[in-house]
Amino acid sequence: MANAAPVDLSFARRLPKIELHAHLTGSISRACLHDIWETRRQHDPELQLDDPLVAIPPDKVDYDVQTFFPLFSSYIYKLCDDLPSIEFSTKRVLEDFQADGVVYVELRTTPRAIPNRGITEDDYVKTILDVLRNHNDQVGNTMRAFLILSIDRRNTATEAQQVVDLALKYRSEGVVGVDLCGNPAKGDVSLYTDAFTRIKAAGLKITLHFAEIAQSGTDDELNTLLSWQPDRLGHVIHVNSSFQERIKREHIGVELCMSCNVHAKLIPGTFSDHHFGFWRHTNVPVALCTDDVGIFCSPLSQEYYLAAVHFGLDRTQLTELAQRPIASIFTGASERTRLVESFEHWLA
Ligand code: IMP
Ligand code: ZN
Repeated sequence: MANAAPVDLSFARRLPKIELHAHLTGSISRACLHDIWETRRQHDPELQLDDPLVAIPPDKVDYDVQTFFPLFSSYIYKLCDDLPSIEFSTKRVLEDFQADGVVYVELRTTPRAIPNRGITEDDYVKTILDVLRNHNDQVGNTMRAFLILSIDRRNTATEAQQVVDLALKYRSEGVVGVDLCGNPAKGDVSLYTDAFTRIKAAGLKITLHFAEIAQSGTDDELNTLLSWQPDRLGHVIHVNSSFQERIKREHIGVELCMSCNVHAKLIPGTFSDHHFGFWRHTNVPVALCTDDVGIFCSPLSQEYYLAAVHFGLDRTQLTELAQRPIASIFTGASERTRLVESFEHWLA
């Protein structure tokens, strides 16, 4: 039955939601970073790192391309540089998504070695997969979690192939695809053609950060990225009508991150100007996503609420929107069936 009642935050929280574009380290809340900092300081009173609540002030969300990426390399990675911190923060990220009404998440992360602690990229990925498996095995948990491994635009072609090796090694343990992320102002994406060709040939899925800034939205770059036959594209901002048509023709899923794009000033204007307003009227699978909820502080429920407020969606329309990502999830038929049933249950 249609429900034309206006949407409020409580409805948006209860709505079952699918998160397809969330960077693990960018999803760690400031409260969780603070807890890690406290624990580390107890063991090492000489710890040379500021309190996260000072380094990343609680109300600050206006990180742009210049200030956003250094947050990770010069702060968060230094704080979360041992396996207990990585395990603890991954658990908290899962709890936070589940508490927000997320029923399915594909988290993504860049395999990271921490040589001074003897941690390899393989140890890092295995640690995260163990946390995801424990979460999925707990009967009471309403959300299921899977992993996408990211290649960063600062990686060499060899490093990208090492990410592919890990994705293939752990595909039966929860890795469902490979992403291309990182500072869009850096790098030449054609370096990674062989790596993504290997991923595709092995039957794993591909998602790519696509046209995030004008510099990474050139015809050359977009043609290269599309030649890899991606299954989904993130952001999709600087895309002219001929690329829009191609995305529609090839029925590629789009992952749209409204708060990130507005706060980081990746789009001109505000929420009502967001290109969600264009893609919602196409036939492609559209997924609203948080990108980095730890930085931009807008949980997925709030992204749905913002879509409802700025694009005039009622409860029925928002529920329809929440189901659109099912068509582009990277797992198979059993998860698709579970999600269809979750929505049937919700609608009943
Ligand atoms: P991690 O891969 O789990 O360590 O998550 C943080 C990393 O994700 C950062 O170092 C960035 O390279 C990447 N990342 C997070 N948000 C974005 C984005 O909006 N565009 C491109 N890369 C991003
Ligand atoms: Zn992203």
